[in-house]
Amino acid sequence: MGKGGVGKSTSSAIYSIAMAKAGHKVALISMDPAHNLSDIFNKQLSNKPSTIHKDLTVMEVDQEAWVKVYLRSVSRQVKKSYAYLTAFNLESYFDVIQFSPGLEEYALILAFQKIRRDFRSHDYLVFDMPPTALSLKFLFLPSLSLIWTEKLLALRREIIEKRNMITRIKLIRKERETDKVLNTIEEQKVYFTMLKDTFEDPETTRINLVLNPDKLSFAESERILARLKTVNIPINRILFNKTRNPETHPALEQSFPGIAINVLPLSDTALNGFEILETYLTVNNITFT
Ligand SMILES: Nc1ncnc2c1ncn2[C@@H]1O[C@H](COP(=O)(O)OP(=O)(O)OP(=O)(O)O)[C@@H](O)[C@H]1O
Ligand SMILES: [Mg+2]
Repeated sequence: MGKGGVGKSTSSAIYSIAMAKAGHKVALISMDPAHNLSDIFNKQLSNKPSTIHKDLTVMEVDQEAWVKVYLRSVSRQVKKSYAYLTAFNLESYFDVIQFSPGLEEYALILAFQKIRRDFRSHDYLVFDMPPTALSLKFLFLPSLSLIWTEKLLALRREIIEKRNMITRIKLIRKERETDKVLNTIEEQKVYFTMLKDTFEDPETTRINLVLNPDKLSFAESERILARLKTVNIPINRILFNKTRNPETHPALEQSFPGIAINVLPLSDTALNGFEILETYLTVNNITFT
C-alpha cells in the first residue's frame, strides 16, 4: 500500500523476485485497475498467469470483468429470494447499478477470493494494490459489510415477527429457519467474518507500506496506519523507497514503532525488466527476512 507513485508496483516486483529467489513459490497479482506490472517486467501481462521465473508468476486482475461477475451473482441471489420481483423488470435496474460507486471493492474482493483458491499451493501471494483510497475501501469492506449485515438481520427478524403477528402463525422459529432472505444475510455474515479474520491475522495478511522521503507520502502513510488500526489491521513492514539517505530512519521509527523497515535506494537506472530488478536487489543487498 501507499500513496500514488511512491513505487508500490516496483517494490512489489522487487519483493516478489526476492521471495522467488529465496526458493518460495510466488504469485504477484496487480489489483490496480491502472496496471503497471507489464511496464515493470517489459512483458505484456494479462488476467492469465504469466511465468516470469520458475518460482514467479504474474497476472493482472481484470476489474471490469469482476464487476460483471459480481452483478450477475447479486442478480441471481435477488431473483432467487424475491421471485415476485421479476414482474418489476429487474434487469433494467442492473443496467444502472453497474455504474454505482462502491462496486470496485466488491469486485476486487471476489477476485481476491478466487486468486486465493487458484494459487493455494503457492507460498506467497503478493498483491500490488491501487493507491490509498481504493485499497482502504478494499480492506474496510468486511468490517463495513458486517455493520450492514447486522442491521439487515435485525430488520429481517422484525419483518418476520410482524408478519407472524399479522397472520397469527405461531411457528416463529420454523419460519425463521426457512426464510430465504434471512438465510442469505446470515451466509453473507459468515463470509464477511471470514474475510475480516483473514485481513486481521498477521500470519495470513501482511501489509507492506511503501513511502518516500517526502512530507506528503510520509503524512499519508501515518494516516493509513491510523485508519487501519481502527479495523484491527496491522502494518507488517515499511518499504522506504527512493531514498538517497538511509539516515532519515529515526523519524520513521518514531512514527512507525515496532514495524520492520527496508530501505530501497533511489536507482539511477530505470527499474524495468527482471534482470535489472534482480541486479538492484543484489547490488543493494536487500533481503526481506
Ligand atoms: N527505487 C527507485 N528508484 C528509482 N525509481 C523508482 C524507484 N521506485 C520506483 N521508481 C520509479 O517511480 C515511478 C513510480 O513507480 P511505481 O509505478 O512502481 O509506483 P506506484 O506506487 O505503483 O504508482 P501508482 O500509484 O501509479 O500505481 C516509476 O517510474 C518507477 O520506475
Ligand atoms: Mg502501481
